[in-house]
Amino acid sequence: MERTLVLLKPDAVHRRLVGDLITRFERKGLKLIGLKLVHADKALAEKHYAVHAARPFFKDLLSFLTSSPTVAIALEGREAVTVVRNLVGATDGTKAPPGTIRGDYAISIQNNLVHGSDSPENAANEIALWFRPEELVSWGPVDGPWVTGS
Ligand code: RTP
Ligand code: MG
Repeated sequence: MERTLVLLKPDAVHRRLVGDLITRFERKGLKLIGLKLVHADKALAEKHYAVHAARPFFKDLLSFLTSSPTVAIALEGREAVTVVRNLVGATDGTKAPPGTIRGDYAISIQNNLVHGSDSPENAANEIALWFRPEELVSWGPVDGPWVTGS
């Protein structure tokens, strides 16, 4: 089973969409293995978005991510990275198709509600950045085979 990191960014918290957004991942069949509210400091935000350090929007992105709490979520499931990226949709809310989270809830580029890891390698690094090992919980849902088909 693959793991991925989802962040419900500060706009999701301010807009009181946390419950709705977690529901989207749960009902797809992904399993929660880590969940917490974090007010990211600059060091954490910089590490998380280090790949964008040279981009013109980097400073604004750090201000946004450190402005108020974020919900950090670790999820597990078949092809979890791709599944989450497909559920989230394109970066720009105006381009994301209806049915995706950004397509249904976002019209901004920056304030697009959700982060999803873009590769299994980055997912492992990002989960380690946002969670201590003991905060991740291994468990087996009783309906597991009904969801995964095996
Ligand atoms: P994410 O990393 O948050 O899952 O988003 P993504 O892969 O769809 O987009 P990415 O290119 O990695 O950009 C990271 C976040 O930076 C903000 N952004 N602002 N003003 C802009 O042009 C701009 N472009 C990107 C967004 O919050 C985006 O999710
Ligand atoms: Mg990205």
